[in-house]
Amino acid sequence: MLITFEGIDGSGKSTQAREIHNALSLAGLKVRLSREPGATPLGEEIRKILLSDSVPVGNLAELLLFLADRAQHVQDVLRPSRSSGEILLVDRFTDATTAYQGYGMGHPLPLIETLHKTILQDIEPFRTFLLDIDPLAASERIRKRGEKKNRIEERGLEFFRNVRNGYLELAKQNPHRFCVLDATLPREELTRSILKDLEPRLLAHPADRRAGG
Ligand SMILES: Nc1ncnc2c1ncn2[C@@H]1O[C@H](COP(=O)(O)OP(=O)(O)OP(=O)(O)O)[C@@H](O)[C@H]1O
Ligand SMILES: [Mg+2]
Repeated sequence: MLITFEGIDGSGKSTQAREIHNALSLAGLKVRLSREPGATPLGEEIRKILLSDSVPVGNLAELLLFLADRAQHVQDVLRPSRSSGEILLVDRFTDATTAYQGYGMGHPLPLIETLHKTILQDIEPFRTFLLDIDPLAASERIRKRGEKKNRIEERGLEFFRNVRNGYLELAKQNPHRFCVLDATLPREELTRSILKDLEPRLLAHPADRRAGG
């Protein structure tokens, strides 16, 4: 079962994905944490290219590199994970490409959709948690985190406003898959909300997800 965490840079995706991974593991469930880009050896190389300034990357090349990372991730991690019946938590997935490279950079949404169909086939997220936050507040968090901003984080508030609106539009179009959360709430409260949302859905799902089971 695939569960994804989405939101602009600094919204708290990695924080919540980690907390939910801990909580579900403690509850005895078979759960695994992954991320994009960079979950496979190829993905790690692609991540370095995409997030550093080591080599110039054009806009179309950027889109295709994110999708190359995803194709490898789907093949090496998502498909085997689905066969194993575990819960797979992924920090960023398809919606990030639609929001960033589609709504943010202006690539045609139908192009992204078509490429995603080829990459994903029958794979789709079961639930998506969108951590929604004002780009200025998110940028302040990144500043406080103390690391240098990466190539994409450098893109400025106008870009991130478009990305945020893209995510909200996706949530509106897919109301059954998305759960939109106010990312400015305290992190413990967000973790509780996510667990509360997931609990009945996990219970309703037939597969046995007990660790070792
Ligand atoms: N609910 C919260 N309230 C306040 N600060 C938070 C909250 N959640 C996370 N943070 C802090 O905000 C910063 C960004 O969080 P995190 O790294 O989880 O975001 P992210 O969405 O994974 O960012 P990126 O897209 O850059 O990987 C971190 O310093 C984190 O400790
Ligand atoms: Mg993160």
